Amino acid sequence: MKAIWKRWFNKDASANIDDNSKAELKNLDIPEHVAIIMDGNGRWAKSRMLPRAAGHSEGMKVIRRITKFANEVGVKALTLYAFSTENWKRPEKEVNYLMKLPVEFLDTFLPELIEENVRVNIMGEIDGLPNHTRAAVEKAMKDTAHNDGLLLNLAFNYGSRAEMLLGVKQLMEDVKKGKVATDDITEELFSSYLMTDGIRDPDLLIRTSGEIRLSNFMLWQLAYTEFWFTDVLWPDFTEKDFMEAIKVYQARSRRYGGL
Ligand code: FPP
Repeated sequence: MKAIWKRWFNKDASANIDDNSKAELKNLDIPEHVAIIMDGNGRWAKSRMLPRAAGHSEGMKVIRRITKFANEVGVKALTLYAFSTENWKRPEKEVNYLMKLPVEFLDTFLPELIEENVRVNIMGEIDGLPNHTRAAVEKAMKDTAHNDGLLLNLAFNYGSRAEMLLGVKQLMEDVKKGKVATDDITEELFSSYLMTDGIRDPDLLIRTSGEIRLSNFMLWQLAYTEFWFTDVLWPDFTEKDFMEAIKVYQARSRRYGGL
Protein backbone atom coordinates (compact mmCIF):
# COMPACT_ATOMS: atom_id res chain seq x y z
CA MET A 1 0.00 0.00 0.00
CA LYS A 2 1.30 3.47 -0.89
CA ALA A 3 2.44 5.44 2.17
CA ILE A 4 0.23 8.39 1.29
CA TRP A 5 -2.87 6.17 1.44
CA LYS A 6 -1.95 4.76 4.79
CA ARG A 7 -2.44 8.09 6.52
CA TRP A 8 -6.14 7.99 5.73
CA PHE A 9 -6.74 4.41 6.64
CA ASN A 10 -7.29 2.60 9.92
CA LYS A 11 -9.35 5.37 11.48
CA ASP A 12 -11.24 4.05 14.47
CA ALA A 13 -14.30 6.20 14.34
CA SER A 14 -16.24 3.86 16.62
CA ALA A 15 -13.96 5.03 19.42
CA ASN A 16 -16.15 8.15 19.52
CA ILE A 17 -19.23 6.18 20.47
CA ASP A 18 -19.53 4.97 24.02
CA ASP A 19 -21.67 2.08 25.10
CA ASN A 20 -24.06 4.40 26.98
CA SER A 21 -24.88 6.27 23.78
CA LYS A 22 -25.53 3.00 21.97
CA ALA A 23 -27.72 1.80 24.84
CA GLU A 24 -29.63 5.10 24.87
CA LEU A 25 -30.30 4.71 21.17
CA LYS A 26 -31.41 1.12 21.55
CA ASN A 27 -34.19 2.05 23.94
CA LEU A 28 -35.71 4.44 21.45
CA ASP A 29 -37.54 3.93 18.16
CA ILE A 30 -34.92 2.38 15.92
CA PRO A 31 -35.67 2.51 12.18
CA GLU A 32 -36.05 -1.12 11.16
CA HIS A 33 -34.84 -0.54 7.61
CA VAL A 34 -32.20 2.08 6.81
CA ALA A 35 -31.20 2.74 3.19
CA ILE A 36 -28.07 4.71 2.32
CA ILE A 37 -26.92 6.39 -0.88
CA MET A 38 -23.18 6.31 -0.26
CA ASP A 39 -21.85 9.29 -2.18
CA GLY A 40 -18.67 11.34 -2.27
CA ASN A 41 -15.92 8.74 -2.62
CA GLY A 42 -14.47 10.49 -5.67
CA ARG A 43 -14.45 13.94 -4.03
CA TRP A 44 -12.90 12.49 -0.89
CA ALA A 45 -10.05 11.05 -2.96
CA LYS A 46 -9.66 14.18 -5.10
CA SER A 47 -9.34 16.45 -2.10
CA ARG A 48 -6.39 14.30 -0.98
CA MET A 49 -4.90 14.10 -4.46
CA LEU A 50 -5.50 10.35 -4.45
CA PRO A 51 -6.93 8.21 -7.25
CA ARG A 52 -10.73 7.73 -7.15
CA ALA A 53 -10.11 4.08 -6.31
CA ALA A 54 -8.71 5.15 -2.94
CA GLY A 55 -12.06 6.78 -2.13
CA HIS A 56 -13.97 3.63 -3.07
CA SER A 57 -11.60 1.47 -1.06
CA GLU A 58 -12.05 3.66 2.00
CA GLY A 59 -15.80 3.64 1.37
CA MET A 60 -15.73 -0.14 1.50
CA LYS A 61 -14.25 -0.04 4.99
CA VAL A 62 -16.97 2.33 6.11
CA ILE A 63 -19.53 -0.23 4.92
CA ARG A 64 -18.03 -2.75 7.32
CA ARG A 65 -18.09 -0.35 10.29
CA ILE A 66 -21.60 0.92 9.64
CA THR A 67 -22.94 -2.62 9.15
CA LYS A 68 -21.51 -3.63 12.51
CA PHE A 69 -22.94 -0.56 14.20
CA ALA A 70 -26.38 -0.94 12.62
CA ASN A 71 -26.49 -4.54 13.79
CA GLU A 72 -25.48 -3.53 17.31
CA VAL A 73 -28.16 -0.88 17.70
CA GLY A 74 -30.90 -3.16 16.39
CA VAL A 75 -31.48 -2.07 12.79
CA LYS A 76 -33.01 -5.07 10.98
CA ALA A 77 -32.16 -4.23 7.37
CA LEU A 78 -29.48 -1.99 5.87
CA THR A 79 -29.66 -1.32 2.14
CA LEU A 80 -26.59 0.28 0.58
CA TYR A 81 -26.49 1.72 -2.93
CA ALA A 82 -23.09 0.50 -4.11
CA PHE A 83 -23.35 0.37 -7.92
CA SER A 84 -26.16 1.71 -10.06
CA THR A 85 -27.15 0.60 -13.55
CA GLU A 86 -25.95 4.08 -14.62
CA ASN A 87 -22.48 3.57 -13.10
CA TRP A 88 -21.47 1.45 -16.13
CA LYS A 89 -21.01 4.80 -17.91
CA ARG A 90 -17.89 5.49 -15.80
CA PRO A 91 -14.41 4.92 -17.24
CA GLU A 92 -13.63 1.22 -17.69
CA LYS A 93 -10.81 1.32 -15.16
CA GLU A 94 -13.11 2.62 -12.42
CA VAL A 95 -15.88 0.14 -13.29
CA ASN A 96 -13.38 -2.73 -13.16
CA TYR A 97 -12.23 -1.54 -9.76
CA LEU A 98 -15.77 -1.25 -8.43
CA MET A 99 -16.50 -4.79 -9.67
CA LYS A 100 -13.55 -6.08 -7.65
CA LEU A 101 -14.67 -4.43 -4.41
CA PRO A 102 -17.40 -6.91 -3.43
CA VAL A 103 -14.84 -9.69 -3.97
CA GLU A 104 -12.34 -7.95 -1.71
CA PHE A 105 -15.00 -7.00 0.82
CA LEU A 106 -16.34 -10.52 1.10
CA ASP A 107 -12.87 -12.15 1.08
CA THR A 108 -11.96 -9.96 4.02
CA PHE A 109 -15.16 -9.66 6.00
CA LEU A 110 -17.44 -12.61 5.22
CA PRO A 111 -16.25 -14.67 8.23
CA GLU A 112 -16.99 -11.73 10.56
CA LEU A 113 -20.39 -11.16 8.98
CA ILE A 114 -21.23 -14.84 9.44
CA GLU A 115 -20.11 -14.69 13.05
CA GLU A 116 -22.32 -11.65 13.63
CA ASN A 117 -25.33 -13.45 12.15
CA VAL A 118 -25.60 -10.98 9.24
CA ARG A 119 -27.45 -12.14 6.13
CA VAL A 120 -26.08 -10.79 2.86
CA ASN A 121 -28.37 -10.12 -0.08
CA ILE A 122 -27.64 -8.58 -3.45
CA MET A 123 -30.38 -6.40 -4.85
CA GLY A 124 -29.75 -5.93 -8.56
CA GLU A 125 -29.16 -7.71 -11.81
CA ILE A 126 -26.62 -10.30 -10.73
CA ASP A 127 -26.60 -11.88 -14.20
CA GLY A 128 -25.06 -8.70 -15.61
CA LEU A 129 -21.99 -8.88 -13.34
CA PRO A 130 -18.57 -10.22 -14.35
CA ASN A 131 -17.99 -13.83 -13.29
CA HIS A 132 -15.65 -13.09 -10.37
CA THR A 133 -18.07 -10.55 -8.85
CA ARG A 134 -21.05 -12.78 -9.38
CA ALA A 135 -19.32 -15.81 -7.83
CA ALA A 136 -18.35 -13.81 -4.73
CA VAL A 137 -21.81 -12.37 -4.10
CA GLU A 138 -23.56 -15.67 -4.77
CA LYS A 139 -21.26 -17.42 -2.30
CA ALA A 140 -21.95 -14.74 0.33
CA MET A 141 -25.71 -15.09 -0.13
CA LYS A 142 -25.47 -18.87 0.13
CA ASP A 143 -23.14 -18.86 3.16
CA THR A 144 -25.34 -16.43 5.09
CA ALA A 145 -28.75 -17.64 3.93
CA HIS A 146 -29.62 -19.13 7.32
CA ASN A 147 -28.55 -16.10 9.37
CA ASP A 148 -31.41 -14.19 10.92
CA GLY A 149 -29.66 -11.07 12.22
CA LEU A 150 -29.21 -7.85 10.25
CA LEU A 151 -29.97 -8.08 6.53
CA LEU A 152 -27.14 -6.40 4.61
CA ASN A 153 -28.82 -5.64 1.31
CA LEU A 154 -26.24 -4.44 -1.20
CA ALA A 155 -27.77 -2.66 -4.18
CA PHE A 156 -25.32 -3.62 -6.90
CA ASN A 157 -26.08 -3.20 -10.60
CA TYR A 158 -29.38 -1.80 -9.37
CA GLY A 159 -31.68 0.79 -10.91
CA SER A 160 -35.16 1.46 -9.63
CA ARG A 161 -36.82 2.06 -13.01
CA ALA A 162 -35.32 -1.13 -14.44
CA GLU A 163 -36.49 -2.98 -11.32
CA MET A 164 -40.04 -1.69 -11.80
CA LEU A 165 -40.08 -2.55 -15.52
CA LEU A 166 -38.90 -6.07 -14.75
CA GLY A 167 -41.59 -6.36 -12.09
CA VAL A 168 -44.28 -5.13 -14.49
CA LYS A 169 -43.17 -7.62 -17.15
CA GLN A 170 -43.24 -10.53 -14.70
CA LEU A 171 -46.63 -9.44 -13.41
CA MET A 172 -47.98 -9.25 -16.97
CA GLU A 173 -46.69 -12.75 -17.65
CA ASP A 174 -48.56 -14.00 -14.58
CA VAL A 175 -51.73 -12.19 -15.71
CA LYS A 176 -51.38 -13.81 -19.16
CA LYS A 177 -50.96 -17.24 -17.56
CA GLY A 178 -54.08 -16.65 -15.48
CA LYS A 179 -52.15 -16.75 -12.18
CA VAL A 180 -53.16 -13.18 -11.33
CA ALA A 181 -56.40 -11.35 -12.13
CA THR A 182 -56.06 -7.67 -13.07
CA ASP A 183 -58.50 -6.71 -10.31
CA ASP A 184 -56.24 -8.40 -7.74
CA ILE A 185 -53.29 -6.11 -8.48
CA THR A 186 -52.75 -4.11 -5.32
CA GLU A 187 -49.78 -2.13 -4.02
CA GLU A 188 -48.83 -5.13 -1.87
CA LEU A 189 -48.98 -7.49 -4.83
CA PHE A 190 -46.90 -5.19 -7.04
CA SER A 191 -44.34 -4.82 -4.21
CA SER A 192 -43.91 -8.58 -4.24
CA TYR A 193 -42.69 -8.37 -7.85
CA LEU A 194 -39.86 -6.02 -6.88
CA MET A 195 -36.37 -6.95 -5.74
CA THR A 196 -37.30 -5.98 -2.20
CA ASP A 197 -39.97 -8.69 -1.96
CA GLY A 198 -40.21 -9.66 1.71
CA ILE A 199 -38.27 -6.60 2.94
CA ARG A 200 -40.23 -3.74 4.49
CA ASP A 201 -39.92 -0.31 2.89
CA PRO A 202 -37.06 1.79 4.27
CA ASP A 203 -37.95 3.84 7.36
CA LEU A 204 -34.96 6.13 6.93
CA LEU A 205 -32.95 7.17 3.86
CA ILE A 206 -29.52 8.73 4.28
CA ARG A 207 -27.57 10.35 1.46
CA THR A 208 -24.05 11.59 2.02
CA SER A 209 -21.96 14.25 0.27
CA GLY A 210 -24.50 17.08 0.08
CA GLU A 211 -26.35 15.86 -3.03
CA ILE A 212 -30.12 16.11 -2.65
CA ARG A 213 -31.58 13.64 -5.14
CA LEU A 214 -32.61 10.00 -5.39
CA SER A 215 -30.57 8.95 -8.44
CA ASN A 216 -32.94 6.14 -9.47
CA PHE A 217 -32.85 4.49 -6.03
CA MET A 218 -35.86 2.63 -4.60
CA LEU A 219 -38.38 5.07 -6.09
CA TRP A 220 -41.39 2.88 -5.21
CA GLN A 221 -40.16 1.81 -1.78
CA LEU A 222 -39.27 5.33 -0.54
CA ALA A 223 -42.84 6.68 -0.77
CA TYR A 224 -43.17 7.27 3.00
CA THR A 225 -39.54 7.13 4.07
CA GLU A 226 -37.94 9.86 6.19
CA PHE A 227 -34.96 11.48 4.39
CA TRP A 228 -31.76 12.71 6.01
CA PHE A 229 -29.04 14.42 3.98
CA THR A 230 -25.56 15.24 5.17
CA ASP A 231 -22.58 17.04 3.64
CA VAL A 232 -20.25 14.40 5.06
CA LEU A 233 -18.54 12.40 2.29
CA TRP A 234 -19.10 8.65 2.53
CA PRO A 235 -15.47 7.74 3.40
CA ASP A 236 -15.72 10.18 6.34
CA PHE A 237 -19.10 8.89 7.51
CA THR A 238 -18.89 7.61 11.06
CA GLU A 239 -21.05 5.85 13.60
CA LYS A 240 -21.64 9.28 15.13
CA ASP A 241 -23.18 10.53 11.89
CA PHE A 242 -25.33 7.42 11.72
CA MET A 243 -26.45 8.01 15.27
CA GLU A 244 -27.32 11.62 14.48
CA ALA A 245 -29.47 10.47 11.56
CA ILE A 246 -31.31 8.04 13.81
CA LYS A 247 -31.90 10.72 16.43
CA VAL A 248 -33.34 13.08 13.82
CA TYR A 249 -35.56 10.22 12.61
CA GLN A 250 -36.71 9.57 16.17
CA ALA A 251 -37.71 13.21 16.58
CA ARG A 252 -39.91 13.18 13.49
CA SER A 253 -43.53 12.16 13.50
CA ARG A 254 -44.57 9.92 10.64
CA ARG A 255 -48.14 10.43 9.52
CA TYR A 256 -48.31 8.46 6.25
CA GLY A 257 -50.65 11.07 4.80
CA GLY A 258 -52.92 11.08 7.87
CA LEU A 259 -53.15 13.66 10.65
C1 FPP B 1 -20.50 7.25 -5.19
O1 FPP B 1 -19.43 8.12 -5.02
C2 FPP B 1 -20.07 5.91 -4.85
C3 FPP B 1 -20.07 4.86 -5.70
C4 FPP B 1 -20.54 4.93 -7.09
C5 FPP B 1 -19.54 3.56 -5.29
C6 FPP B 1 -19.84 3.21 -3.87
C7 FPP B 1 -19.08 2.01 -3.52
C8 FPP B 1 -18.57 1.77 -2.31
C9 FPP B 1 -18.77 2.67 -1.16
C10 FPP B 1 -17.84 0.51 -2.05
C11 FPP B 1 -18.58 -0.68 -2.57
C12 FPP B 1 -18.19 -1.86 -1.84
C13 FPP B 1 -18.88 -3.00 -1.77
C14 FPP B 1 -18.43 -4.03 -0.87
C15 FPP B 1 -20.10 -3.26 -2.53
P1 FPP B 1 -18.82 8.84 -6.29
O2 FPP B 1 -17.75 7.98 -6.84
O3 FPP B 1 -19.90 9.18 -7.25
O4 FPP B 1 -18.22 10.12 -5.62
P2 FPP B 1 -18.18 11.59 -6.23
O5 FPP B 1 -19.61 12.02 -6.47
O6 FPP B 1 -17.53 12.38 -5.15
O7 FPP B 1 -17.37 11.52 -7.49
